[in-house]
Amino acid sequence: MSVTTVAPVPVSLPAPHALKGSTVVVIGGSSGIGLAAGELLSAAGARVVLVARDAARLEAAVARVRASGAGEVLGLPADGGDEQALERVFDQAGPIGHVLVTAGALGGGLLVDTPREQVQQAVDSRVWGAYAAARAAATRLPAGGSITLSSGTYLARPIPGVAAAIAGLGAVEGLTRALAVELAPRRVRVNTIRYGVFDTPLSRAAMGLTGDEDVATAGQASLLGRFGTAREAASASLFLMSNNYVTGTVLTVDGGASLA
Ligand SMILES: NC(=O)c1ccc[n+]([C@@H]2O[C@H](COP(=O)([O-])OP(=O)(O)OC[C@H]3O[C@@H](n4cnc5c(N)ncnc54)[C@H](OP(=O)(O)O)[C@@H]3O)[C@@H](O)[C@H]2O)c1
Repeated sequence: MSVTTVAPVPVSLPAPHALKGSTVVVIGGSSGIGLAAGELLSAAGARVVLVARDAARLEAAVARVRASGAGEVLGLPADGGDEQALERVFDQAGPIGHVLVTAGALGGGLLVDTPREQVQQAVDSRVWGAYAAARAAATRLPAGGSITLSSGTYLARPIPGVAAAIAGLGAVEGLTRALAVELAPRRVRVNTIRYGVFDTPLSRAAMGLTGDEDVATAGQASLLGRFGTAREAASASLFLMSNNYVTGTVLTVDGGASLA
């Protein structure tokens, strides 16, 4: 990668208005944390491009995000692990300011019972999805732009049955540090959020929780007595996008789950 001169980066304090008018691509934006990020970004005045595979869910998410702000909201269906599809998404999105990747599943199975093919798709889509997004974004982001990836506290406190997925989380965190160094000459920042348990369709399905009461009961054992909301998870991404001096950081947002 040849790097020439870069434009000076404005020194800005982290504030939602720093994102006003900026275009943010959210890969994984039709549900959970990505959808909540879309709503917060739109409310902060950003132009939001939501990306996910299921077109119907994406359309519903676009309508929801439109209702939360005045800015333009686009929905572009694509598989985040498909590099060519992502290139098309970024071409369609136009000039971008920031990228958030929340797409990623926790495919699992016990080591001795689970052949590689069974876990490979989940690991590939997380690791190569992050890599592909970063590759597509790196040359399009301006100085001061950022890429924010997703990890989870299972990396610090593993549970049995998801070893390959946890290895994928570790790979994403490694990628974050490496790309933060590699893209620093372009003044593009790369960070990851290491999430604890947040109330989203993903966590409800993973824990077999069917309603709000189930979620509240299950969350009582957490240090703060509840699981986080998708909005609480998503707000961390706005901080990472808007603070121009944060890069190579894995920001843990877990309600203290790493401690107890
Ligand atoms: N919620 C938690 O408690 C928690 C804890 C730790 C880590 N995390 C991580 O945080 C991230 C977001 O989780 P969440 O709870 O918000 O999940 P979610 O509610 O299931 O939302 C995931 C979103 O990503 C999209 N997606 C999945 N695979 C994709 C792909 N290959 N290409 C494009 N879009 C894709 C989904 O839409 P389609 O299926 O239609 O594509 C959906 O919009 C995940 O990486 C998850 O592992 C979450």
